[in-house]
Amino acid sequence: MTPVIRLHELRFRWCAQGPDILAIDALEVSAGERLFVEGPSGSGKSTLLGLLAGVNLPQQGRIEVLRQPLDQLSPAVRDRFRADHIGYIFQLFNLIPYLGIIDNVTLPARFSHRRRQRALARSPSLTAEAQRLLAHLDLDQPGLLRQPVSELSIGQQQRVAAARALLGSPELLIADEPTSSLDTDRRRAFIELLFAECAEMGSTLVFVSHDPSLEGLFDRTLRLPELNRAVHHQSAPMQRSASEPVVAPELTAPSAAATATRATAATVAAPGMPAEQSEQQPPRP
Ligand SMILES: Nc1ncnc2c1ncn2[C@@H]1O[C@H](COP(=O)(O)OP(=O)(O)OP(=O)(O)O)[C@@H](O)[C@H]1O
Ligand SMILES: [Mg+2]
Repeated sequence: MTPVIRLHELRFRWCAQGPDILAIDALEVSAGERLFVEGPSGSGKSTLLGLLAGVNLPQQGRIEVLRQPLDQLSPAVRDRFRADHIGYIFQLFNLIPYLGIIDNVTLPARFSHRRRQRALARSPSLTAEAQRLLAHLDLDQPGLLRQPVSELSIGQQQRVAAARALLGSPELLIADEPTSSLDTDRRRAFIELLFAECAEMGSTLVFVSHDPSLEGLFDRTLRLPELNRAVHHQSAPMQRSASEPVVAPELTAPSAAATATRATAATVAAPGMPAEQSEQQPPRP
């Protein structure tokens, strides 16, 4: 069976003069596999996820996702592919602050006909499907649903972000520390929902976490420092390029925030919309 993800001779660096952040000779992830990715802070986990989603492109090597060579697709085709097939739970959530919970969760269906159809195959309406997912995450209180997402607690926002990624049953789910703000009960409910949805739809899951108690639940663990041959100095801050997108001041982790900002724009933007402009590509040789 063709793997859902296939990396070959991948090299990625953020700055032309900077060090390689990722040098991965080969990685394959099978259909339906649940992969746990771990590594210390700064080791390149979020960078890897951004590459798997086609938000950034490697300077060298091949990235195939669902048999699509991401590095060879035009930006517009990559955006369409991502909107149709990938659910991404961002490390910093990337909710749209002026939309309510339901509108945030149903957003993927506004930009992907495919996700819309798949959501409607499971519930009579998009709102009903959003409510179904939110109920599993203990977020279905009517009063809460009327609140703007900016007024939710961090843990509540994280669950909204999770429901949004699951809507429309994408074939590949990418989750960047999705349980970091959840208490024990909610973490368990979230993992149960995530696994149930993936099992029902045969989706593949790539899950980054610092929580070792979750590792045993997964089919396989990828220890990024063992796979990654790039040696970069995590303590030396790298110079940012002038073209790096401006991020909201409340986002305090600049590197992850920049990645997430680009990724959200590209994920929620309809084809041909400004996602391309917001997408900063590192230099190709
Ligand atoms: N937008 C960016 N521009 C320049 N360098 C970046 C950018 N994003 C990340 N980096 C650098 O790439 C390296 C890997 O960062 P990354 O965010 O992928 O780490 P991580 O493993 O996800 O860390 P954490 O566990 O803290 O989320 C770090 O040295 C970081 O400084
Ligand atoms: Mg990260």
